[in-house]
Amino acid sequence: MSNLEENTNEEEKIQESFNKSHINLVFIGHVDAGKSTIAGHIMVLSGKIEKRVLEKFEKEAKQKNRESWKYAFVMDLTDYEREKGKTEEVGKAYFETENRRFTILDAPGHGSFVPNMIGGAAQADVGILIISSRKGEFETGFNKGGQTREHAMLSKIMGIEDLIVVVNKIDDKTVNYSEKRYLKIKQKIRPFLKRLGYDVENRVKFCAISGFTGEGIKIPLDQKKCPWYTGKTLLEELDNLNPPKDLSGESTRMTIIDKYRASGVIAYGKVVSGKLTMNESYLLMPLNRKVTITGMTNQDYPVEEVRSNENAKVKLKGVEDDEFKVGYVLSSIKNPVPVGKRFLAQVNLIQHESIICPGYQAVMHLHSATIECTLSKFLAVVNVKKQSVIEKNPKFMKQHQTVVVKISVPVPICLDIYKNNKQLGIFTLRTMGKTIAIGRVTHIF
Ligand code: GTP
Ligand code: MG
Repeated sequence: MSNLEENTNEEEKIQESFNKSHINLVFIGHVDAGKSTIAGHIMVLSGKIEKRVLEKFEKEAKQKNRESWKYAFVMDLTDYEREKGKTEEVGKAYFETENRRFTILDAPGHGSFVPNMIGGAAQADVGILIISSRKGEFETGFNKGGQTREHAMLSKIMGIEDLIVVVNKIDDKTVNYSEKRYLKIKQKIRPFLKRLGYDVENRVKFCAISGFTGEGIKIPLDQKKCPWYTGKTLLEELDNLNPPKDLSGESTRMTIIDKYRASGVIAYGKVVSGKLTMNESYLLMPLNRKVTITGMTNQDYPVEEVRSNENAKVKLKGVEDDEFKVGYVLSSIKNPVPVGKRFLAQVNLIQHESIICPGYQAVMHLHSATIECTLSKFLAVVNVKKQSVIEKNPKFMKQHQTVVVKISVPVPICLDIYKNNKQLGIFTLRTMGKTIAIGRVTHIF
């Protein structure tokens, strides 16, 4: 084949792949459940990682006495992650199935890295909840304080409606492909997810796999070992997912997740609505600076346009890299994203043993932004279902209550009313390493 033919074939393949709908998946679940191992194994099975590279990871894992972590090393890139066998930063990888194209966001499971996990969930359309079926591990993750619970709850809050629950480590010797163990886990998880508000009948799927041996990921579980299993493989479940609603027709908002300098100013982010076009100008908010896109890639391929629900890397003319931050928003000029320092929100105190009073400070995570905030005034305790006021001007707020709160932040941030843009209008509040509340923006001053 000539070089020209090869290039044309390659281009056709890329075009074909971009015609598939794109879905952002966040891998969530308790520490050591096997999130990175599954993500890494998917990359190997879909031909994204060459044998030679996997052999290198295998060697490094062996040297670190972490032989079983070879697939996790596909996702866990830093020295810290490989030494400790723990994900810290949200890892990212791309792959595709017959009908869909995916970005994997491999979240950390350890309790100390929950803010990173929230960042991952904020970018995702679908959650892949990984559960270890190994004796003791399922129990620890599912007990109070376990991350199976916290991650499932936080994902729902961040707007994730579709979940695939992956019962992993089915090969482990304490499990040995047992139907009883699989059913026990399913029977505990289903009602729990239902209580969190997931539509378990229609939008939650279950599948059993071994992330380590690969059984059940692409190749179905062996009927000799698991005659009881009638479910799909993980890749089949993924291929069946409905793509998120296409918001490309709305005003453009790209939340900035990362930025750096590399022969120009580069911003990486998620197009939550609208689209980005090469050589067009946009407003970088809240800086209010007109910038022009002079280069753009999607999954590392140069592209002319990036539609909503896709992630883009853009080269920006008109701004220096030290003039903006993660959490800023690239926005259409005609109808720019709202910006504010004070706003009203319905805040639900999900876990806090003592009462909290006006003046309370917390860290707010809103799309990709993280900022200190003050809950300056409590306006009313409300009943969300009935949309009625229970008490006006309460002196304090206690666990499980929903209160309309006036919130202030020290510098202007990009946000929107939840009703207008879900992803820009929902946030979590954290203090002392714990998520204490969720909120929805109802009014911006
Ligand atoms: P964090 O990122 O720290 O939250 O962990 P993780 O969920 O990414 O888990 P990771 O993939 O790092 O795997 C943890 C350990 O579980 C490693 O030793 C894996 O080899 C092991 N493991 C993962 N999947 C399986 C599996 O299907 N079967 C068995 N037997 N072990 C597995
Ligand atoms: Mg991991």
